[in-house]
Amino acid sequence: MRILGIESSCDETSAAVVSGHSSHPKLESLVILSQDVHSVFGGVVPEIASREHLTAIVPVTERALADAGTTLADIDAIAVTHAPGLVGALLVGVSYAKALGAAAGKPVIGVHHMEGHLFATALEHPDATPPFTALLVSGGHTLLLDVADWGEYRLLGRTRDDAAGEAFDKAAKLLGLPYPGGRHLEALARDGEPKRHRFTKPMLNAGQKLGDADYYDVSFSGLKTAVLLATQQAADLNAEKAHIARGFQDALIGTLVAKTIRGARAHKRKRIVLGGGVACNSALVQAMREEAAKIGATVFAPTPRLATDNAAMIAAAGLFRRERGERSGAHLNAFSTLQMPGLKSAD
Ligand code: KG4
Ligand code: ZN
Repeated sequence: MRILGIESSCDETSAAVVSGHSSHPKLESLVILSQDVHSVFGGVVPEIASREHLTAIVPVTERALADAGTTLADIDAIAVTHAPGLVGALLVGVSYAKALGAAAGKPVIGVHHMEGHLFATALEHPDATPPFTALLVSGGHTLLLDVADWGEYRLLGRTRDDAAGEAFDKAAKLLGLPYPGGRHLEALARDGEPKRHRFTKPMLNAGQKLGDADYYDVSFSGLKTAVLLATQQAADLNAEKAHIARGFQDALIGTLVAKTIRGARAHKRKRIVLGGGVACNSALVQAMREEAAKIGATVFAPTPRLATDNAAMIAAAGLFRRERGERSGAHLNAFSTLQMPGLKSAD
């Protein structure tokens, strides 16, 4: 089977072709056009994002098909992100996919963006398949999942306020770094002393027990406030910046790693799969690997182009859904928030 994937949920216009079977998906092509314009505004401006998608979506898709050496006629189905995200941005992808599907007589499958992030790593690591514990950390979401099988997701924990990427971006802003600040903060933290700012690891303490509401959940707003106070109290902020970045990153990573290991331990999983833009953070991946080794688990992380938003992961998730015979009708719509298909709350 050969799937054309389309992604336009935020500020990346992307198209990709993925073939094969969902247990061994093969990436044929991937085109990602990032909208740099938002850095001027310090955040994504929804209206501008929609307009940029409109300009880019046709050439990006045509390029992805050409790079894969194929045409729409040889595509079996079109997978498109339809939620969650910016509605105006999503609508560009959804409308275009539906138009292509109608014109070429191909089925269209609406894909949940976070299910896409879950499939990204499998495109590069054949062993990143269920069962596993998943930590999805992006600009808009932070989800800790137990994945018994593709399509069978148990929600262990989530953020109660800011997403991990959002926390990185806000802390980066306080440190005067450009948007999106995650990777800039990571670079700055490399020069920071680890013990100069010992920020408390948020929502983590030894007294938490399995079944407690805060055992798996995370929260980053307090950590953000701690960074704000540190910047205000610094005698020479320029000299202190790297140390504050390091303290912030260590605390945030400490919580994410501890909670993910709790999930893997409780469900006896030997594989941990990371996804979302924050999975680009090599300090996070390294810390996760060190702790996972202690429980005999292996960590799989996608390379940056598959960790951040891309259409290959949407095509891979679409491939799985199409194999199950799924297709969306002409009523397929875009939603800013939507429960992930197959997601059950922890009991
Ligand atoms: O998954 P993604 O591309 O978009 C969403 O679905 O939100 O994630 C973007 C987020 C941004 O918040 C960005 O700052 C963060 O991922 N990010 C990083 C790094 N690279 C990207 N955060 C920490 N360290 C990085 N190296
Ligand atoms: Zn994303």
